[in-house]
Amino acid sequence: MWNKPYQMKNLLVIGILVFASLPAFNQDAIFSARSVHHPVIAENGMVASQHPLATQVGVEILKQGGNAVDAAVAVGFALAVVLPRAGNIGGGGFMIVHDAKRKETKAINYREKAPLKATPNMFLDENGEVDKVRSKYHHQTVGVPGTVAGFALALEKYGTMPISKVVQPAIKLAKEGFPITWDLARVLEVYQKTMKDWPSSMEIFYKPGGSLYRAGELLVQSDLAWSLEQIAKDGAAAFYEGAIADKIVTDMRANGGLITKKDLKKYTAIEVEPVWGTYKNYKVASMPPPSSGGIHLIQMLNILEAYDLKGIGSNTAQTIHLMTEAMKRAYADRSKHLGDPDFYDVPTNELVAKGYAEFLREGINEEKATPSSEIAPGNPVDYESEETTHFSVVDKDGNVVSNTYTLNFSFGTGIVADGTGILLNNEMADFLHKLGEPNAFGLIEGEANKVEPEKRMLSAMTPTIVFENDTPYLVTGSPGGSRIITSVLQVILNTLEHEMNVAEATHTTRIHHQWQPDVLYIEENLNKDTRVLLEAKGYKLEERTAMGSTQSILVKDGMLYGSSDPRRPDAFTKGY
Ligand code: DON
Repeated sequence: MWNKPYQMKNLLVIGILVFASLPAFNQDAIFSARSVHHPVIAENGMVASQHPLATQVGVEILKQGGNAVDAAVAVGFALAVVLPRAGNIGGGGFMIVHDAKRKETKAINYREKAPLKATPNMFLDENGEVDKVRSKYHHQTVGVPGTVAGFALALEKYGTMPISKVVQPAIKLAKEGFPITWDLARVLEVYQKTMKDWPSSMEIFYKPGGSLYRAGELLVQSDLAWSLEQIAKDGAAAFYEGAIADKIVTDMRANGGLITKKDLKKYTAIEVEPVWGTYKNYKVASMPPPSSGGIHLIQMLNILEAYDLKGIGSNTAQTIHLMTEAMKRAYADRSKHLGDPDFYDVPTNELVAKGYAEFLREGINEEKATPSSEIAPGNPVDYESEETTHFSVVDKDGNVVSNTYTLNFSFGTGIVADGTGILLNNEMADFLHKLGEPNAFGLIEGEANKVEPEKRMLSAMTPTIVFENDTPYLVTGSPGGSRIITSVLQVILNTLEHEMNVAEATHTTRIHHQWQPDVLYIEENLNKDTRVLLEAKGYKLEERTAMGSTQSILVKDGMLYGSSDPRRPDAFTKGY
């Protein structure tokens, strides 16, 4: 029976609770009446990643008292199981860590390295042409993986839990299996062509005879569970010197690969200073070389901060024009000045100098597109002053992790090192193979990024933390190959400049230009009026599939506001 007085009492209690909780929420960041898209809101901790099970793993670690680094490493291992196309232990990446207590922000470089036997022309065939298979889908294109070393270093320096603990959820997911999502079922169908030649891959990701798993069926990865158990037992040494190393090297030898035991043993992840910049009153910490991400993100922000983008409006033709001109100049510089700083003297300070941005800005015609052919890599010296995945974690003490890691393409080479369950990256494809020849993402690479033994290949990955008053404000990053840097740029501008909440900032239509080819890539829903105005300015427009998949968390007045990009299925943000 419907008991009216009882229900009234309940409503009153709920009303008081809701009212009492209101002051804690920041209305600006919610925009509840004005916004179409809303962030996930929480108070204590938050994880944004490309898979709900990995996000859940991270939140559980936070609830158990782990800090952001403990949670991030657990998420990273879990993604290696549930997001096999990008999550990995056979690849590499970058992590930006902010330690709230020490008030310190550091970058961990765990990018893959070229094997000792690698040479500058190793991917050219007898006619001097780039060998399309060997450079992308072969044991020779595997860079010495960095993920396990990177995670171990992060835990050792900033974590509170041992690796044996944070790897447990991943072991469970690999051993017991997890339900295949529609997205995973779809990509496994699409990428069967990459894996079909490798029985070690086929027997894991397909049913006997190559038939497909359907959404909802369990994917069990026993060999991967074994590898993760070795890591739980012996730490990173299992991967670089122990039982896993043995299996990787045996697989390399059997298939003409270059990686030896010496390569694995010599691999180290390194902690470095982030590259720093400012945008108005905000500070930006992002990834230095061998990623090009941080430098060019800051360079573009420097160029753009002089314009009244808010006044001009988000995604108006004029704002897109100004952003595009900044993008072209930054990517032109990338083609010449960027490479592994251990091998090439990258002019980082010069490239992120405000004075250099001012010089570049002077070359921008506010009415018309400058053809890319008229833009060359600059000389900053005088101005001194399509698979990857990102996840963001914030804990209750204000520690922050912004992590992007990759196998390069979806499923990397498509090769599982026999007996390990580990998919191997095809990161050597990110090096320059032949001057003037664009890489897989259409990027022009320079001599600075030629193949050399033990060198780390240039990347575009851009894990970033934006600070307000020296406190983390926005944590973000994205996959997307060459489009990573511009996706991160747009989330930052949408948040800081256009004052969108983090969900709107994420969902808003994206554009991309990378200098060469001279094409302005636009997402499908950019409106027709804007397109007409951009064409009138001289742009060649091309619709592209949705760009990037950002995972962002905004910290404001003690509350956390998160948003997983809707551009790729399954991404999920959760807090508590
Ligand atoms: O490091 C890089 O820049 C590339 N290997 C990233 C590849 C990528 O993002 C593909 N994902 N969509």
